[in-house]
Amino acid sequence: MPYNFDSTPNRRDSHSLKWTTYPKDVLPLWVADMDFETPAPIRDALRAALDHGVLGYELLKPQTQQVVAARMDRLHGWQVDPDWVVETIGVVNGFNLAARTVCVEGDGVLMQTPVYNKFYELYENVTLTRQFAPFSFMREGNILAPQLDLDVFARSFHSNEARTRMFLLCHPHNPMGNVFSREELVGMAELCLQNDVAIVSDEIHSELILDGSKHIPLAMLSKDVADKTITLISPSKTFNTAGLFCAFAIIPNADLRERYKKTAGQTTGHVSSLGVIGAETAFSGACDDWLAQLRTYLKANRDFAADYLTENFPQASYTVPAATYLHWIDFGAYVKSGQITTSPYEFFLNKAKVALSDGRTFGAEGENFVRLNFGAPRSLIAEGLERMYKALD
Ligand SMILES: Cc1ncc(COP(=O)(O)O)c(C=O)c1O
Repeated sequence: MPYNFDSTPNRRDSHSLKWTTYPKDVLPLWVADMDFETPAPIRDALRAALDHGVLGYELLKPQTQQVVAARMDRLHGWQVDPDWVVETIGVVNGFNLAARTVCVEGDGVLMQTPVYNKFYELYENVTLTRQFAPFSFMREGNILAPQLDLDVFARSFHSNEARTRMFLLCHPHNPMGNVFSREELVGMAELCLQNDVAIVSDEIHSELILDGSKHIPLAMLSKDVADKTITLISPSKTFNTAGLFCAFAIIPNADLRERYKKTAGQTTGHVSSLGVIGAETAFSGACDDWLAQLRTYLKANRDFAADYLTENFPQASYTVPAATYLHWIDFGAYVKSGQITTSPYEFFLNKAKVALSDGRTFGAEGENFVRLNFGAPRSLIAEGLERMYKALD
């Protein structure tokens, strides 16, 4: 059945973070939250749960763990024992719990920058030392291609006078949308093993692959790597269920898994029962036809925005994400030439009435960058880009 991604419900009245943070005349193309309706099988399953009439505490069913394991096998050929699957309130909650599980105060947490802003907050949440392994870029015309430099990565272990205890990987990457190759994953994983560093692999965007790239779960590389890895997955980005707060940590190492569960139990261990129903339905395969069409739509949005940027913002450079619905755009040349006199984020918010994500929230490398979320009807992306063009013109 064909799905219509051109038309979406009004979200201003639902108190959505994306649509109510800024005034009504601002078009929101910021936070990683799509405007499309959550697929019908998920909404139907939630409706049926409500019709039952009781919303009490519920246990995670073995069936949910089996559904998650079966999806990993179906998508990636990754043989996951259902017992390895631990529910977690969200992926941010998951990597915070993981850090509390494997680190002690002052330990180093390694991350590749620029990166999703919540990664940075670990240092305050768990009192850790941040260690940065920045990406470099290749520029071809207007296109920015992120490059992993394994020498830079290797040198960043135990930097800032702290022992690195955990590597937090964003795979695929937010904000740049790159999907790591097997060779890159092996290079990073080997260095982590050599340095006796636990790996937390945030794979929340792994089902939003827009081109022919293949997502390889890091923990699939070998038993040694799996033993050191906590993989975090969630249906939330893919199926637009972020408000349900139900994600999963896949932890093959029994000792690590028990320690993670213990840490989780110190706060609120349970996820919401409606969240579990949503996640199980999302991962069951019932929404895969919707997902295939979503990917096609997002890819066309990506290419539409890229063509518009090339044609109308000749001095800007941007990534063409292989995964995610996020463009990472460098307006530094416009700042240099004086056409933009504030940060690009403030410029477009104030002059174009378009809310983008401020590149600086993704780290120092994000200066003069913005992130544009194209997970919305194409007409809205077109309107946002046109407003931005007119503001610069
Ligand atoms: C890489 C990454 N991890 C985690 C999250 C948020 O996950 P959750 O809402 O499950 O905490 C996001 C949201 O944008 C993200 O991009």
